[in-house]
Amino acid sequence: MKLNTLLVAAAAGTAMAAPQLKKRSSGFTFFGVSESGAEFGESNIPGVWNTDYIFPDTSAISTLISKGFNSFRIPFLMERLTPEITGSFDEGYLQNLTSVVDAITSAGAWAILDPHNYGRFNGEIISTPSDFKTWWQNVATQFADNKNVIFDTNNEYHDMDQTLVLNLNQAAINGIRAAGATTQYIFVEGNSYTGAWTWTENNDNLKSLTDPQDKIVYEMHQYLDSDGSGTSETCVSSTIGAERVSSATQWLKENGKLGVLGEFAGGDNEQCRTAITGMLDDLKENADVWLGALWWSAGPWWGDYMYSMEPTGGVAYQGMLSTLEAYMP
Ligand SMILES: *[C@@H]1O[C@H](CO)[C@@H](O)[C@H](O)[C@H]1NC(C)=O
Repeated sequence: MKLNTLLVAAAAGTAMAAPQLKKRSSGFTFFGVSESGAEFGESNIPGVWNTDYIFPDTSAISTLISKGFNSFRIPFLMERLTPEITGSFDEGYLQNLTSVVDAITSAGAWAILDPHNYGRFNGEIISTPSDFKTWWQNVATQFADNKNVIFDTNNEYHDMDQTLVLNLNQAAINGIRAAGATTQYIFVEGNSYTGAWTWTENNDNLKSLTDPQDKIVYEMHQYLDSDGSGTSETCVSSTIGAERVSSATQWLKENGKLGVLGEFAGGDNEQCRTAITGMLDDLKENADVWLGALWWSAGPWWGDYMYSMEPTGGVAYQGMLSTLEAYMP
């Protein structure tokens, strides 16, 4: 990890000038980017820092904040943070994760903790909600005093029993609140990779989640390629973005819920730019239920990845940022 002024200042606990968040009044509360790296090399657990995985570059995050982004989702692996699900922390991994969180939040932005585990631990579906509650209670205790932290229960549950997905999300909420983290938002995710386009057919039961603080946000993901997996540069059509979120918008409205598009992306081409603009305009028009959206993804190790938002050479930083600027909070 590169030590830079942000991180040094955060570590030293010194006051520093928060970069001015640009005001463009898109109506979104959250507009940002995932910051990949700590979840890389998932076939090597725990793996070696700077070989298998890396932490996000806080100076790159600073650059993105100066462009107007105010939300950063940090994927990491549960097994690296706690080798046993209900056990103690790997102090080094926790400290490195916390440094990134502190750099983001002390600059006035939101840091979203994203255990990027697909509802699994050591490759097995997490089947004991009470273990998951303990895990979240332990983690939330570390961040309970930081109002700008957001807890994302898990990345992209899939191929799991639907009631288990409900119970795991509820256990996470209960654990976080039991830790005394009572002011923070909680982003819950659904089954079937939390897809917005298939949300209503898979995840309707999640409407019964409850939070004593009433700060649940339903995090959905949406890609615009033919199978919705985010593995192609080609968007299906120039209108596919708005089309794919519309049933989810209705669900949020009918059930009085709030949502966030926690991952979206498209290739560096005109058709995708138009499709993304159409989708974000649609979310904006429905900003009463959609709190914002996060691009997938920035991070120091993406190289020439088609969606890389890493400053300054990333394909999307070069080709997509100017399209996104109109939506900054
Ligand atoms: C944490 O980051 C430091 C560099 O800042 C590195 O030396 C160390 O290996 C990292 N530890 C873990 C567990 O990632």
